[in-house]
Amino acid sequence: MTQTEIIDRIKQLKKEKNAIILAHYYTRPEVQDIADYLGDSLGLSQMAGTTEADIIVFCGVHFMAETASIISPNKKVLIPAEGAGCSLAEGVTGYDLREWKKANPDGLIVSYVNTTAEVKAYTDYCCTSSNALKIVQSLPKDKKILFVPDKNLGAYIQKVTGREMEIWNGDCCVHDKIDTQMVLDKLEEYPDADVLIHPESSCSHDDRVLNHPRAFMYSTAGIIKHAKESPKQRFIIATELETIHKLQADNPTKEFIPIHPKTICGQMKKVTLEKVLEALEKEQYEVRLPEDLREKAWLPIQRMLDLS
Ligand code: 13P
Ligand code: SF4
Repeated sequence: MTQTEIIDRIKQLKKEKNAIILAHYYTRPEVQDIADYLGDSLGLSQMAGTTEADIIVFCGVHFMAETASIISPNKKVLIPAEGAGCSLAEGVTGYDLREWKKANPDGLIVSYVNTTAEVKAYTDYCCTSSNALKIVQSLPKDKKILFVPDKNLGAYIQKVTGREMEIWNGDCCVHDKIDTQMVLDKLEEYPDADVLIHPESSCSHDDRVLNHPRAFMYSTAGIIKHAKESPKQRFIIATELETIHKLQADNPTKEFIPIHPKTICGQMKKVTLEKVLEALEKEQYEVRLPEDLREKAWLPIQRMLDLS
């Protein structure tokens, strides 16, 4: 089948089955282009909760599809690339969290959405990179925060909010490579450009970056918004490379320079057009949780969505 035939068939099946395709900004350009909704983790969760579709084809990694299925238990949630995982979600288990909480019984557990349902079930509040600051700032000041699993996002939040926090030692294998020297070198090379940085990056809590007048820290959706609204013509993009597809589509006359050509999430790239078509044809791979686990995992997500 040619690419055009695959796309036509996907469109036909979507209509026949009342399905919607949700895709994260880090998926392949051709997958982004067939999505009904393209977003970051927060936007995708919100969309999963409001869609009228019967089937959600989730083009992203497993924790994202699992989150959609927690939010929308009456829909069939399909993940086209069954094995698409995430180094953050794999870096902490429910057992780890239980033990951590035992050692800190008064602490509040705030989990990044990049976690498994089992971890969410032991969590007080979920957050994404879009709302992490807001969520943490809204929590009672006398409570210590146990933040899991991203050490860089956690350190960034701690620095900005000044809250008492213990932070798990997990990282995103893609963003963790984005360090301060990389950012400072690019700022020097392009003196007219802003650098837009995802807070999962290892430079996110370094004062040399935080205090730089041309450095900005945002979730993926925040990066896209800044580039659209800014009068500047050039931006250095310090997040996953494929974000540039959307940035360039929104701003055809502006220039986007990747911080490094290898900031690529191989897990997101496992989603191909062929797999999306197969997912719709065979209604595979369904992500569904036992109801008792789903209900426990839903609570911290609900608190997050209410605060967002
Ligand atoms: P956001 O979608 O919240 O920007 O998070 C980035 C990410 O790494 C998702 O896996
Ligand atoms: Fe996980 Fe990082 Fe890939 Fe996002 S970019 S899915 S955090 S490994």
